[in-house]
Amino acid sequence: MLQFRVVCKTMEAANHSKNSAMETENHVKHGEILYYSRKILFFLALVSVFFLNACSDRRAEREQKHVAIIEELSPFEFKDELIKAAGSGSILNAGRGNPNFLSTAPRYAFWQLGLFAMRESELSSMYMPEDVGGFPQREGIEERFMIFLNENAGVPGISFLADAVSYIQDHLGLNVRDFLYEMCEGILGINYPVPPRMLTNSEKIVEQYLRKEMIGGHPFAGDFDIFAVEGGTAAMTYIFNMMRENFLIEHGNTIALGSPIFTPYIEIPQLNDYQLNIIYLNADPANGWQYSKQELDKLRDPNVKAFFLVNPSNPPSVKLDMESLNYIADIVRERPDLIILTDDVYGTFADDFVSLFALCPQNTILVYSFSKYFGSTGWRLGVVATHHQNVLDDKLANLPQKQQALLHERYKSITTEPDKLKFIDRLVADSRTVALNHTAGLSTPQQVQMVLFSLYSLMDNDAYKTALKQLIRNRKQALYNELGISLEDHDDNAVDYYTILSVEYLLERGYGREVIDWINENITASEILFRLAREESVVLLPGEGFGTLNPSWRVSLANLHEDEYVRIGRAINKVMDEYIKLYHDK
Ligand SMILES: Cc1ncc(COP(=O)(O)O)c(C=O)c1O
Repeated sequence: MLQFRVVCKTMEAANHSKNSAMETENHVKHGEILYYSRKILFFLALVSVFFLNACSDRRAEREQKHVAIIEELSPFEFKDELIKAAGSGSILNAGRGNPNFLSTAPRYAFWQLGLFAMRESELSSMYMPEDVGGFPQREGIEERFMIFLNENAGVPGISFLADAVSYIQDHLGLNVRDFLYEMCEGILGINYPVPPRMLTNSEKIVEQYLRKEMIGGHPFAGDFDIFAVEGGTAAMTYIFNMMRENFLIEHGNTIALGSPIFTPYIEIPQLNDYQLNIIYLNADPANGWQYSKQELDKLRDPNVKAFFLVNPSNPPSVKLDMESLNYIADIVRERPDLIILTDDVYGTFADDFVSLFALCPQNTILVYSFSKYFGSTGWRLGVVATHHQNVLDDKLANLPQKQQALLHERYKSITTEPDKLKFIDRLVADSRTVALNHTAGLSTPQQVQMVLFSLYSLMDNDAYKTALKQLIRNRKQALYNELGISLEDHDDNAVDYYTILSVEYLLERGYGREVIDWINENITASEILFRLAREESVVLLPGEGFGTLNPSWRVSLANLHEDEYVRIGRAINKVMDEYIKLYHDK
């Protein structure tokens, strides 16, 4: 027993010692495990910190690269990236110049005119019931139109048409029968546009519209030709192409661009097709975005072949003041060879607008688009106008013999006197690569809508104009109120279709120079734009893409409702407050 106990004790002792040895071993093992696991954990932590750092470095690098790549984009493509960043919720997209308003009366008139034209068409094919129409008949069209107006009295668009008929007769001296026939044939789209440059009565009416809106009360001698095109941008494409084909601009020539400017106009001259040198005339924000005399003096350089501008400007949305217009006109007197190309699409939103076309008609190619004022971007309606006596025709007539011979060949298939073909008719021909000149021209239903828009403006006593100007200015007021910026010192030249904001402009009243400089040095304008998009679903465009010299953003006042501009103001304040906090925490 004792032995047993001893054995047991011994066993116990042995067990104990074994156990304690095991425990010690276990402890050691446990300690080792702990030690190694800590090491592993530490190592893993190190690796993950390193990995995360590397990832965030790479992410930051990628983001930087992304921003850098994106900054290469035109503001319009950039806007698409911002929209992606803003996600799929509801976005406040003030990046678009597409208006959210439209004129209704001339559209109602269009549809009613269409119904009348259909009636006319069916009248001349009564014997064919199988949905076959005929051409309208000129004879008696006036009387049938009066019956149509009487039958539909009170229907929207009818009184407009009645007024339009008496207006074109009483004020423009046009023949009602010819006008109605042109409109019916045009709206039915049953013939190629003839003349291809523009339908005859349509041109006379649009001419009056341009006189009213682009020339106003300014003295203007002589007449001008109009080429109806698919919007202002098509006009630019045609003009650049034709000028190159006709040796009016050649690779390596210098042109002057009024800056900031609608981005495509910076890009086109740089394309391989043109390879033009550009000198910029920079409008001065401190001088209400007008050009200083010093900048305008750049036009005195005889190497400058053409001056290309958007007036009122995009994005500053300011019209050239009378002093600048007169100054340019003086330079043109000194440089009668200078070609001016002016895109005046926003002119109708300005108070008392006068185009350079009014002051320098012989030198100026006028481009106008109906897109913005009538809310008709989808219609694609624009015009090019040149004066009957212009330097472009003179330049063509005085080209070197070799070039004249080439152009003689180019245009000989469309006229027996190619050397006498005017600039504007060459423009028409080149819009269809010359050989297809007989199918050139804007579609006739488009021309009809253009005519109705023009007549509307001629007849409306500016009620529509006043309403639109008020609409966009109220939006500006709403935005600026929210930003805490007073608009008391209204600039008479401001058009307010767009407005430009910058860190400087937003903070200069409430914060010191140091904060502004710190933000400008440490945060790019596009970073702020991405933040606005990602966090606030607000999309604005970068001003630098339009050639502004300092970082800025373009806010379109055309395409959102007033309350949405309040929300944009709030979002901008929030993001700016965070940057100011970052500055204080640095
Ligand atoms: C200066 C300028 N010209 C032309 C256009 C476009 O005109 P359209 O729609 O007639 O092609 C725009 C549109 O934003 C513009 O800002």
